Amino acid sequence: MRKTIRDIQKMKDRGERIPMVTAYDYTSAQIVDRSGGIPLILVGDTLGMVVLGYPNTVPVTMEDMLHHTQAVVRGSHEALIVADMPFLTYASRHDALRNGGRLLQEGGAQVVKLEGGRSVTPMIRALVGQGIPVMGHLGLTPQSVNQIGGMRVQGKRAEQARRLIEDALKLQEAGVFAIVLELVPTELAGEITRRLRIPTIGIGAGNECAGQVLVWHDLLGLYADHLPRHARRYANLSDTITTALQRYTDDVREGSFPGAEHSSRMNEEELREAVRPTESGLSV
Ligand code: KIV
Repeated sequence: MRKTIRDIQKMKDRGERIPMVTAYDYTSAQIVDRSGGIPLILVGDTLGMVVLGYPNTVPVTMEDMLHHTQAVVRGSHEALIVADMPFLTYASRHDALRNGGRLLQEGGAQVVKLEGGRSVTPMIRALVGQGIPVMGHLGLTPQSVNQIGGMRVQGKRAEQARRLIEDALKLQEAGVFAIVLELVPTELAGEITRRLRIPTIGIGAGNECAGQVLVWHDLLGLYADHLPRHARRYANLSDTITTALQRYTDDVREGSFPGAEHSSRMNEEELREAVRPTESGLSV
């Protein structure tokens, strides 16, 4: 049965750490379910970078998010599915409701995530008021990369740290069921986590959060060279896939693939009949 936001809160209340991972397609979502212990999937707008090849998440559209969320929902039956609201799709309460509603109605997600602090609380209230669960996102908010001027740790100085603590409390009050903390110092993430009833999910925020999230491609080593400092690689699929492709190329070149076991045969008489010259048919 699919997890609910109540199940996630119960995990936090029991002191169970909450693993979350991003996924962007049907097959990956199936694998997450099969792995057995991951209650939360994020269809992150990182898909703009890791799947679509954009330099950041700003170009991602509602249509992109709907397309990928639908695929993930088709592949997963256990995890709670959180879909990111793309840049500028929640700039007003009206936009937030229209687009958040689409992610649930058309995308099939159960929760939406949006970035920002006190300025987004009216949109959170509107969504939660209409029965759309919301996950917050504080610290580094990648949709504001052009404003922030890069992907750097947030909240290292007292004033900014205080603001982040206040923002977290304001998001909780507005009704979010959990908050992603991205690229904030461990001590600050711990402080925020202890002050909230709801779970914090960290990425580059140390090990004092209630849960952790990693991007699929980082976790599985799908990039040959690039690994953000905050991520741990649990497999090296880039190398595994490269080797598999090289072996496939060699097999095709030398004619050893496909083998008899991958092919079907036909009766020789049928073939002779098929190529027999006729008046209206083959002239070979
Ligand atoms: O879009 C995403 O994948 C995210 C994670 C980095 C938390 O927001």
